[in-house]
Amino acid sequence: MSTAIIYSFTSNKTAKAGEKIVAAIGKSFETTTVDADQLTEEEFLAYNQLILGVPTWFDGELPHYWDEFVPAIEEMDLKGKKVAIYGLADQVGYPENFADGIGILGRLMRERGAELVGETAIESYKFESSHAIENDKFMGLVLDQENQARLSKKRIENWVEDLKNIFK
Ligand SMILES: Cc1cc2nc3c(=O)[nH]c(=O)nc-3n(C[C@H](O)[C@H](O)[C@H](O)COP(=O)(O)O)c2cc1C
Repeated sequence: MSTAIIYSFTSNKTAKAGEKIVAAIGKSFETTTVDADQLTEEEFLAYNQLILGVPTWFDGELPHYWDEFVPAIEEMDLKGKKVAIYGLADQVGYPENFADGIGILGRLMRERGAELVGETAIESYKFESSHAIENDKFMGLVLDQENQARLSKKRIENWVEDLKNIFK
C-alpha cells in the first residue's frame, strides 16, 4: 500500500520540506509524491494513507490550490483513510494565525471521516493563537523556516518516526 504525499511543487518551502520528509521515510514505507496543483479527486481517493503539506497563507487561510480543492473534499467519504498533515508557518510574522491551515484542512478531513494521525507537541513554539491546536497538541507537524529553521530537521525526523508506527 503506497502512501501519497501531496504538496504543491511550486510552494517553495512546503515542497522542500516534503522532499525532506520523503527522504526521512526512506524505505520504511512506500510513498508516491503528488503535485497538489494537479490533484484530481480520483487520485486523492486512490490512497488510504495520505500526508498533506499545507502552508498557511493570507492571514490564517489555506493557499489557493488547497482552497480550490475544498469543495471536492466536502463531497468525499474518507472513512478508512489515515491522514497526516505538515504545515509551514511563521510564528513571529503571524502569531495570531499560526499554522491555521493545518487546522482548517485537518478538521475538514476528520468531518469527512478520515482518521488524523501525527499530532505534535506545541511546547517549542511561541505564538498567540492557532487553529491547528486540539487537546493542547498541534494536529500535525508545524515547521517554521522563517524563525526556527534549525529545528526543522529534528522535527521532521521525530514526526517520521511516529509515522513509521502508523503507516504500513
Ligand atoms: C501573505 C502571507 C500571509 C501569511 N499568513 C500566514 C498566517 O496567517 N499564519 C502563518 O503561520 N504563516 C503565514 N505566512 C507564512 C507562511 O506560511 C510561511 O512563509 C511559509 O513558509 C510559506 O511556505 P511556502 O513557501 O510553501 O508558501 C504567510 C506568508 C505570507 C507571504
